[in-house]
Parts: sequence; C-alpha cells; structure tokens
Amino acid sequence: MSAAAEFELRNLRVRNGTKEILRGVDLTLQRGETHALMGPNGSGKSTLANVIMGHPDYEVTGGDILFRGRSLLGLAPEERARLGVFLAFQYPVAVPGVSVARFLKAAVEAVRGKSTGGAGGFLKGVREQMKFLEITEAFLDRGLNEGFSGGEKKRLEILQMLLLKPALGVLDETDSGLDIDALRIVAEGVNRLRGPDLTLLVITHYERLLKLIEPDHLHVLMNGRIVFSGGPEAVKKLEEHGYDWIREQVGAEAG
Ligand SMILES: Nc1ncnc2c1ncn2[C@@H]1O[C@H](COP(=O)(O)OP(=O)(O)OP(=O)(O)O)[C@@H](O)[C@H]1O
Ligand SMILES: [Mg+2]
Repeated sequence: MSAAAEFELRNLRVRNGTKEILRGVDLTLQRGETHALMGPNGSGKSTLANVIMGHPDYEVTGGDILFRGRSLLGLAPEERARLGVFLAFQYPVAVPGVSVARFLKAAVEAVRGKSTGGAGGFLKGVREQMKFLEITEAFLDRGLNEGFSGGEKKRLEILQMLLLKPALGVLDETDSGLDIDALRIVAEGVNRLRGPDLTLLVITHYERLLKLIEPDHLHVLMNGRIVFSGGPEAVKKLEEHGYDWIREQVGAEAG
C-alpha cells in the first residue's frame, strides 16, 4: 500500500443547523502540491475551510478529514494548528486592545508550544518578513485588525503564515479586496513559502491570483460537491466560459 496522502477529505458531509452545506466532498492533496478551489457564491467553499480548521458552528455529519492519515475530526482548532494546519480567514475579526506584535508572538508560541524568547529577537524575524511583504513598521503597534483595510488584513494573514510555516495552508479568498500590487505581494508571499513541505488549498474567485500562484490542480465546488477537477489549463477555460461551462460538462449534478 502507498503512504497516506498529506491531506484528504473523504466523502465529507457538513451541516449548519438544518442546512446541509457539504454533501460528500472528496479531495486528495499530495505533499507539496497546491490545489485551487473555485465555485459560485454560496457553494460551500468557506464552510469547507472552516470545517478543516474545526470551526464550532459546523457539524460534520459524515466522512472524514485526514491529515497525514490521521483524522482531525476530534481535535480542537488549536490542536489542528499545532499539527501544522493553517487557515487564513476570509473575514478576519478585530481584537481590540491587542497589538499586532503581541498577537503574532502569541500565535507563534501557541502553535510551537514554546516561548519565542525575548520580544526583540522575535520582532527581528517579523520585520524581515514585513519588509518582504511591504508592510510598514507602524503596523506592529496597531490594534489587531482595528480599522485595517482589506489589503492590510490579507497581508497580516500572509505574514502570519510566513512566521508559522505551516505544513498545510488553507487560504480563503486571499485576493478579495486586494489591489493589484497587494495581490502580487500576497502571491509572492505564498510562493516564497511553497516547497516540498507546504501543501496548499487556495480558495479564490479569480484567475488573476491563480496566474500568480499557478496551482497544480483546480477543483470546482457546486452545491456542496466537487463537480470538476482538472489541471492548471482549466483555469483559463473557466475564466472564459464561466461556471456554465462546468454545468455543461457535468450536467444536472451541478444544479
Ligand atoms: N454560519 C452559517 N449559518 C447559516 N448558514 C450558513 C452559515 N455558514 C454558511 N452558511 C450557508 O451555507 C452556504 C455556503 O456558504 P459558504 O460561505 O461556505 O459559501 P462560499 O462558497 O464560501 O461563498 P462565497 O463565494 O460567497 O464566499 C450558503 O448558503 C450560506 O448562507
Ligand atoms: Mg466564502
């Protein structure tokens, strides 16, 4: 038998209240691969991302989520994070009173399970990554997400990912609200991290991000199911013909 895939969703079914949002999702990511997930509004993409991280609002009613062959289902979000799972949120929440610097230090320590030492040494590493992401110094002293622009929030997420160096990254709509320069910076941040040790699931609506990130595989989610999986060439086709093209390919199943 071959070794377990790095990350696998097996016939995953998820409900929120009485509504079944994911209706049997199968997805396999081999180590080091980048997969893009697209799909119309409301198809269940963010639900999928939240469930991978263990968001309490969603009930898994069937199937499994496997990371390196191990089920994540019984684990709390912070336990998943300690295993190396990272989720960048579509709408990061504001945490008043906590500075960006303090938040980043706490986040890294929580995931690593040990102190990062004095603030000085830690911040030196942070500043280096900030420079790369073209984030200004003053950013560190601001309250977490208080009055942050869309682009700033996204840069902070990528900064977090650069510091945490996760094994599995789930990026939800990392391009939403980004101007062209910010989009490029985010993509460069992602590409900087890419390598044999990082497996990525990038959720997006836009071909432009996928042009910069160049995924190995593309999947389309519709009505809670993956209705199409293809290679990077499908990105262009999808941009040209929209989801009707997929609907024609898969017929009634896509709804
Ligand atoms: N907490 C919730 N309470 C009630 N309904 C929810 C909740 N979360 C998701 N849903 C519903 O589940 C469906 C899927 O939502 P989801 O946010 O996963 O879609 P999406 O594919 O990410 O859409 P978008 O492209 O607009 O981001 C939607 O109909 C949404 O209204
Ligand atoms: Mg969404």
